[in-house]
Amino acid sequence: MSRSMFARLFVAALSASALTTGALACGKAAAPPTDVVSSTTGVVVSAHHLASDLGAAALAKGGNAVDAAIATAFGLAVTHPSAGNIGGGGFMIIRLADGTATTIDYREKAPLAATATMYLNKDGTRNEAATDSGWRAPGVPGTVAGLAMAHAKYGKLAWRDLVTPSAELAERGFPLSQALADELNAVMKSIFAPFPSSVAAYGKADGTPWKGGDTLKLPQLARALRVIADSGAAAFYAGWIADSIAAQMRAHKGLITKADLGKYAAVERAPVRGTFNGHEIIGMAPPSSGGTVMISVLNQLEAGGLDGLTRTSARYLHRRAEASRRAFLDRARWLGDPDFNDSIPLTRLLSKDYAATLAAATDSSKATSSLALGSDIVTDRGESPQTTHFSVVDADGNAVSNTYTLESSYGSGVVVAGFLLNNEMGDFNKKPGYTNTGWAIGTPANVIVPEKRMLSSMSPTIVTKDGALRLVTGSPGGRTIPNTTLDVVLGITLFGEDIRTAVDAPRVHHQWMPDTLHLESGAASADVIAALRAMGHAVKEQPARSQGDAHSIMYDAKTRTATAANDKRSADSGARARP
Ligand code: DON
Repeated sequence: MSRSMFARLFVAALSASALTTGALACGKAAAPPTDVVSSTTGVVVSAHHLASDLGAAALAKGGNAVDAAIATAFGLAVTHPSAGNIGGGGFMIIRLADGTATTIDYREKAPLAATATMYLNKDGTRNEAATDSGWRAPGVPGTVAGLAMAHAKYGKLAWRDLVTPSAELAERGFPLSQALADELNAVMKSIFAPFPSSVAAYGKADGTPWKGGDTLKLPQLARALRVIADSGAAAFYAGWIADSIAAQMRAHKGLITKADLGKYAAVERAPVRGTFNGHEIIGMAPPSSGGTVMISVLNQLEAGGLDGLTRTSARYLHRRAEASRRAFLDRARWLGDPDFNDSIPLTRLLSKDYAATLAAATDSSKATSSLALGSDIVTDRGESPQTTHFSVVDADGNAVSNTYTLESSYGSGVVVAGFLLNNEMGDFNKKPGYTNTGWAIGTPANVIVPEKRMLSSMSPTIVTKDGALRLVTGSPGGRTIPNTTLDVVLGITLFGEDIRTAVDAPRVHHQWMPDTLHLESGAASADVIAALRAMGHAVKEQPARSQGDAHSIMYDAKTRTATAANDKRSADSGARARP
């Protein structure tokens, strides 16, 4: 996520018309009903209730959590166009009821023609526009390959039966909420404006603005989904869809070729694991930084002692900020695609011993300077988020935590063969060697190399207790993601909250650089904010509900009941039980 996206994310709710701009940032808008849904036969919770319906219908047909996740993912590609996708990538954590856990890495890859300096201007400055939008911004998409891998290894129902309902939904169309109508109208004039195929796909046929209640039909997307339903991932990576992507790329000086698509493969990887306050944390390994950052923060908190920590206290917020500062510095210093980096010290970064040394070096009453802490990698001292997460648990207690993305809202803005392509290349370190006190990171681990995956912050997470499923969660929001997900995890594992309270709780964010502590309204009282400032924290107060949404499920192993809470931060979200 670029700095401009991050600004959009936080600026969103400031506007009186947060309903539209908020939606633009991360699908957030007016609050949906504050319901939670409990069931012993399975639940699905996602950013769009119609996609949750498709997942729940897969459960009803006898599918497991993986089947339901696949149906939900394709459903979101239709109903949640800002982030639901087949032209992007992501990560899925699967924990089976027998206790085994695995992950599917379907992160995008750099095209074969990519180079380390391809996003630099002639004068050496970073060309932000080239990764924000257009034909040179996309990485090779991974979503269809990832969902197909999850299905081949862990699904039960026929692939066709999981994809076809989305194709039918795209054909039939679905009613736009006021929030999505407003969002599409805004996007038409901004992100889509330079790209006629995108305006044609998502605009109203007569050119007038969308209204709430209008039906959005996506016939080209339906065609692509039908081909994927009938011919599997091969249709995307070798067949008609690949031909279409490659031809359009050639015509617009983009980089992705049929060779890129033909070479793309998802990877099954072991998750990263940690423990915290009697729970086990199962997180995403590199090329996402999410699990590693989260486990480091939890280890540091535990090392410093958990007694008396309360969500809104200065003591807790200070320690959270300090732990996040250090975990994000290690992210910047070390993390990237493990297939291209032999020297990621993952075992150390995840270890309790290392966290204890970090916690011991943390002043209990004074903020550390991020610059002082990481001055060895900062080369410029001058410079003072669209993604979606869904969670599934089935009747047997199998769980899926999935976060996938186009990077920014609506990705590159480019529609090819009926679907939006991502702008994920912006997650690479664009200027090798250049790390500043703002947003830029230039460390070697995440510099562009052909076929490398760009470092992510996505943090699909599963928490267990005493060997039994406890929590399934995750969030969008670029570098805020591990912190948002931690806010929910800590609600359940430390603060003793129910799932509704943990999902609703105001968010906290620190990411090393910029050296700022972001607090959503309600995260701290005026007195606590004053105390944090007195300790030296640069506190930035953020509007309520401006950080990412976290559609989550809590599980009670005794009664085998899953309780899902959709996040009120996103207008169309919905939790559904198996019908
Ligand atoms: O992989 C990542 O970390 C980012 N591309 C995610 C972007 C994001 O969450 C933007 N959403 N609001």
